[in-house]
Amino acid sequence: MKKCAPKIRLSSPWFGDEEIAAVSRVLCSNRISMGNEVKQFECELHSFFGRKDTNISCVSSCTAAIQLAIQASGFVHGDEILVPTYTFVATFQAITAAGTRPVPCDIDLDDGFINIDDARSRTTGKTTAILPVLFAGCDGKIGRLQQFAEDYGLKIIEDAAHSFGDENISLRNSILCFSFDAIKNISCGDGGAILTPDDEIAEKIKDIRLLGVIGDTDRRFNGERSWDFDVTEQGWRYHMNDLSAAIGRAQLAKFQAIKQIRCSIARTYVDRLAHLNHVRLLPINFRTAVPHIFPIIIKNGKRDELKRYLERNGIETGVQYKPNHLLSFFNLGYDLPKAMELYNSILSIPIHPLLSESDVIFIIECIKKFFYD
Ligand SMILES: Cc1ncc(COP(=O)(O)O)c(C=O)c1O
Repeated sequence: MKKCAPKIRLSSPWFGDEEIAAVSRVLCSNRISMGNEVKQFECELHSFFGRKDTNISCVSSCTAAIQLAIQASGFVHGDEILVPTYTFVATFQAITAAGTRPVPCDIDLDDGFINIDDARSRTTGKTTAILPVLFAGCDGKIGRLQQFAEDYGLKIIEDAAHSFGDENISLRNSILCFSFDAIKNISCGDGGAILTPDDEIAEKIKDIRLLGVIGDTDRRFNGERSWDFDVTEQGWRYHMNDLSAAIGRAQLAKFQAIKQIRCSIARTYVDRLAHLNHVRLLPINFRTAVPHIFPIIIKNGKRDELKRYLERNGIETGVQYKPNHLLSFFNLGYDLPKAMELYNSILSIPIHPLLSESDVIFIIECIKKFFYD
């Protein structure tokens, strides 16, 4: 059968006149590297998170954010980090890029969160941190994870790539890593941010995001460049640039509208799909979360057939994610059955600000038709 090109996209950024004006402003200024726009974006994010005792550092991606957070926490080669296998490969690559070792753990089937008992069973004398992934924004078990981390003396670094805008999240004391890539809740094109209440770690992140040049952030924010400087450790070119920051600022300014649209689509899906026999939904906390992806779990073994059916109807879908322990680079013979079960039954359906109400209804009707016609 001839395959149709997808007409309804799985995800999309929402750019308009505000972002075009922001990019033009920076291009016209002839200063596009890290400078005033990044400074302003960090200030605005600080106000957005509403917490005085925290530090924000903007970087080039969430992958970079995780790597820098690990390095700045002082973890070194050979340290082991507990991480759910069920995440985008970026999480794992960031851990190995920092020289540390990801230890893939199984997940809970209800929400994709790292299974604490499995993590405990994989803890060794080399384990220094746990890196939960807030899959689809689900963080209902974070309290249990915090207790486990405290009991074992582990640091927590959260992969919050899916969770920008969640009101709960900025209240935590862990290091939080956000993504502003093309399709996240706000987008800079590509970008990320690290939130931490630890001043020392924040200071270090600011240096190592700029090739390890000590104190370079302040100089760049003042429109200067260092010529006589020192470097005391490995650094990276992971800072955010002013073009990306300007786009991020425009997105942040319209975040309430983005939130309203994403939440409204997700609520419609919940209202109309939750009662279907063959479908299970994740326990997203709608009081605080802003859904970035909307996965549904197909209980009758027909995930692949449904995927093909929706695609024939012009609806793009996704399978998020292929567990990392299946990838040659990270496969050390792990058996993680719950992650496999989720992988074989999950399907992400479209959610983004450019979806119309009729698109959403059409998607729902197609899913119902597939199961019941
Ligand atoms: C769970 C998760 N972690 C990390 C990342 C990496 O984010 P970035 O593309 O900003 O590096 C992503 C991106 O999709 C993600 O979904």
